[in-house]
Amino acid sequence: MATTSLPHASLPLTAADLEAQWMPFTANRAFKATPRLMASAKGMYYTDVDGNEILDGTAGLWCVNAGHAREPIVQAIAEAAGTLDYAPGFNLGHPLSFVFANRLREITPAPLDHIFFANSGSEAVDTALKIAMAYWQAKGQPNRVRFVGRQRGYHGVGFGGISVGGIAKNREAYLSQLLPHVSHLPATHGIPENFFARGQPTLGASLADALEDLVAQHGAHTIAAVIVEPVAGSTGVLVPPVGYLERLRTICDRHGILLIFDEVITGFGRLGTPFAADRFGVAPDLMTVAKGLTNGSVPMGAVFATEAIYSAVLDAAEGGIEFFHGYTYSGHPLACAAGLATLKIYRDEALFDRARDLAPYWEDALHSMKGMPHVVDIRNIGLVGGIELESRAGKVGARALEVHVDCFKRGLLTRFTGDTIALSPPLIIEKSHIDRIVETLGGALKRLD
Ligand SMILES: Cc1ncc(COP(=O)(O)O)c(C=O)c1O
Repeated sequence: MATTSLPHASLPLTAADLEAQWMPFTANRAFKATPRLMASAKGMYYTDVDGNEILDGTAGLWCVNAGHAREPIVQAIAEAAGTLDYAPGFNLGHPLSFVFANRLREITPAPLDHIFFANSGSEAVDTALKIAMAYWQAKGQPNRVRFVGRQRGYHGVGFGGISVGGIAKNREAYLSQLLPHVSHLPATHGIPENFFARGQPTLGASLADALEDLVAQHGAHTIAAVIVEPVAGSTGVLVPPVGYLERLRTICDRHGILLIFDEVITGFGRLGTPFAADRFGVAPDLMTVAKGLTNGSVPMGAVFATEAIYSAVLDAAEGGIEFFHGYTYSGHPLACAAGLATLKIYRDEALFDRARDLAPYWEDALHSMKGMPHVVDIRNIGLVGGIELESRAGKVGARALEVHVDCFKRGLLTRFTGDTIALSPPLIIEKSHIDRIVETLGGALKRLD
């Protein structure tokens, strides 16, 4: 086998060893030339294969809300694996998934009483879109097939998710084969007066009125559902303007359109409440979650649905299977065990309240970077933040990538999308960690040309 001068030569991994895996959302060749590999994680920190400690400013990929390798979760997974490693979920089951659904129901916003398990956010999104269509068929309105997403939205990578999503790069190679009846609302970002808003920006609620235009254009009787992230995460942390989500809800109600909140990032305390729906006081008809559902420890996603939707689909079936959809691993025992242990930590440590209480400190810390080189906007809500940099001419993303790499070398994990640095730390973060994040990031910004 080829030997190389990889920086982590202490490991039995060579450059050739990195070839077999085709990495997701990664510049494979560039990454494999200078790999950054994690070896372990605990609490707020990763340790990379060279033994460097890295402060986790992003909760992995927005998912490890309770911090890494929490003992009760580790134990629950091990116990489940040794007790019931797997049980089919079609016309069969195991108690843990029902127990988990009941526990989840205790914290979901009021009307969302039924829970369908998937294995990722992408699957949850495609499931929610199918539930919406199944609902309208059950209600005798089969022409309601149009979905309305939003520009810059991210709803995973399934064909349903990229159809309603609005991130151009994720769609462009597949445009000819996307779902046929999809429209997009405008993104909520770009109003100059909103730049550097603390929390929700004040202008832009009327952007929701674009839904009325789509109703006028296509007819309400053709529109099944609107899907939005309450706070758009992956596109660079876009916080909804005051009144925007309320207005979307009102317009949906006026025309009988279902509202789907994709809470894959905002769910489980990120905004200082269990869900964004709680934070904004807007109840959707369907909600998708993943990530923090199991603290990122075992892959799992889920769709929460109202009683009205659940019972309509069940009532319409004439016996037999009501919804022809499901996954081999829906409600997997290990994921349910991890999820139950995760919910217990969230509750015992009051982590959602902790996020709420720390949010003002977080906000001040982030906005202290206003005026630093190249910073054109700072956005925040709960324990999430975005620092947008001015792009270099013709090189969108280059500056943010440099900052990301610089921070990593100095022991801080950030995320970047376009030229926005995104931050979403575990909710167990301390003020001293927040100070360190800002110090490291500030240093990287000053070194940038
Ligand atoms: C809002 C939203 N929906 C869906 C997804 C897709 O989740 P997954 O990567 O688990 O498929 C993501 C992932 O970041 C997301 O942020």
